[in-house]
Amino acid sequence: MRVSVLVLPFSFHPKTSNRRFAVPKRENFTSRQSTVSAQPRIHQSAPSIQAYGTVTHALPLDLDEPIRLEMTEQLNLLLADSMTLRDLYKKSHWQVAGPTFYQLHLLFDKHFAEQVEIVDVIAERIQLLGGISIAMSHDVAETTRIPRPPRDREEVPVQISRLLDAHQIIIGACRKLAERSDEIGDAGTNDLVVSDVLRTNELQVWFLSEHLVQVPLAVAQPSEMRKVG
Ligand SMILES: [Fe+2]
Repeated sequence: MRVSVLVLPFSFHPKTSNRRFAVPKRENFTSRQSTVSAQPRIHQSAPSIQAYGTVTHALPLDLDEPIRLEMTEQLNLLLADSMTLRDLYKKSHWQVAGPTFYQLHLLFDKHFAEQVEIVDVIAERIQLLGGISIAMSHDVAETTRIPRPPRDREEVPVQISRLLDAHQIIIGACRKLAERSDEIGDAGTNDLVVSDVLRTNELQVWFLSEHLVQVPLAVAQPSEMRKVG
């Protein structure tokens, strides 16, 4: 004999069965077994688990909370500047024009890729210290110290000057942060700032600056026509 079972969406309580409304079944650990489904649970939301500008407690790093707070704040500034410089390199890579197009197109993209690495290293250092790294372009735009370039396309010397100015801001910040992190005993941040950020930025500055040196391209200038300045 076939028995059909009626599955009710509510709990049935014998003692309260004379009530007009059944009591909805509460979701608990055991009842989750019955909610397993291949359907993705999309559009979920919940309160944040950590507020921006705070650091988590009691990380076994032997670094006091005030130190981690100060370092994560400074590293977020450096992160915003590095993300801006990274994007400025991609803008330059796309928009470059002129006889040096090919080599600059490649050089800008090489520097972009190196800045991508720097961004990741800084962001992960912030997280490691118990803080929260900024990530989205809106937050980067509000935080960076690098001036906003126009949407327009600019000539090569202007592109390179803009990139050099951005590098200068980052390099200056690196020197201050390296000194401060050393002073308060955060050797890890000091090493990251000097070895990864500062030295890469210095090298990129050299490669860019050489493109702004005024030298003859194909024909050497006779000494009587040459004005050295
Ligand atoms: Fe490309």
